[in-house]
Amino acid sequence: MTALISVLGWIVLIGLAGYSVAKGWHWLRRFQKMPLTDRWIVVTGCDSGLGRLLVERLLTQGCWVIALCHTKTACEELREAGVACAFDVDLSNPPEVLAVAEQCLSVSKGMLWSVVHCAGVAKPGFIDYLPLSYYRDVMEVNFFAVVGLTRALLPALRKTQGRCIMVSSVDGLVSLPGNAPYDASKFALEAYSDALRAELSFWDVHVSVINPSTLRTPMSATFFESHRTAWSAMEQQEPEGIWRQYWPAVWLDRFIDKNSENLRRIAVNPAVAVRDLEHALAAKHPRLRYLSGTLAKTLFYFLWLGPEPLTLRIKRLTIQPPPPTEP
Ligand SMILES: NC(=O)c1ccc[n+]([C@@H]2O[C@H](COP(=O)([O-])OP(=O)(O)OC[C@H]3O[C@@H](n4cnc5c(N)ncnc54)[C@H](OP(=O)(O)O)[C@@H]3O)[C@@H](O)[C@H]2O)c1
Repeated sequence: MTALISVLGWIVLIGLAGYSVAKGWHWLRRFQKMPLTDRWIVVTGCDSGLGRLLVERLLTQGCWVIALCHTKTACEELREAGVACAFDVDLSNPPEVLAVAEQCLSVSKGMLWSVVHCAGVAKPGFIDYLPLSYYRDVMEVNFFAVVGLTRALLPALRKTQGRCIMVSSVDGLVSLPGNAPYDASKFALEAYSDALRAELSFWDVHVSVINPSTLRTPMSATFFESHRTAWSAMEQQEPEGIWRQYWPAVWLDRFIDKNSENLRRIAVNPAVAVRDLEHALAAKHPRLRYLSGTLAKTLFYFLWLGPEPLTLRIKRLTIQPPPPTEP
């Protein structure tokens, strides 16, 4: 009996030692980097927020940045800042997406190191007062534009054994109430990225997904106020609808006031996500997934993998004040 315990003890010890060595080896590999100088990188969503910050960072590293912006003004600003090219494109328009992809291939002579899909939209609201068109609008930018642009750029990424980088969100792992169109689009992006990663692995093209928690950018600054836009759109569409009893205007005002302030408090500097994007671009062994920000690594990690009855309770608590359920 004692001999058996001793053998088992040794097996556990050797297992633990092997696991620690493998973990340490993996950790050390994270620091192996390649220079980004003279590499062609396409970044979408460069008008503001994360995309803009990433471009500014890449310019300090001597990359050839192709910035895709929503507006001509942003293009001009970025040309002055030193990007190789800036194109304005409406990513919700599939022919425009294909046309801009052709331009990217042409200026980079078909040798792209990476495409970083930063552009995104959120159209928040509770399901009762979200028009169907909101789901389509969000899917168009957050999902279909990514699919269209990626496919068109694949030949150029294969040539360099480059990187395809998706900016998802913690909402791509955990669907929170009040943001269903965005959550659905990011879940779709996650599914697409998983399939893409396996398919492109035959050509050594890496696919990394970034899952930031709330960042201090224009998207989060206007997030709760945008509930009012959805509410008013549904008011136009169904002025006498029963949905108004569940989500009355007085409740909406209190909900927006309370939560706007909370979101401002938890929003972090987008530099945390830029650091992860840079790692995904320059590391010899990029990670498959980056949870950016402390809340992504803690609360959202638990909500992602924790027991569902418990995570449901926590999700319910995020609706403050709760909607009135008494007549
Ligand atoms: N902010 C957060 O808390 C947070 C958290 C997790 C993940 N993310 C993700 O991070 C990414 C960057 O967002 P952000 O926080 O930096 O917000 P942001 O400042 O609003 O940036 C989003 C960018 O996408 C562009 N865009 C939107 N619709 C477009 C269209 N139809 N065609 C072309 N460009 C379009 C926007 O341009 P316009 O403003 O001119 O429309 C803007 O430049 C998004 O994918 C977002 O889902 C953000």
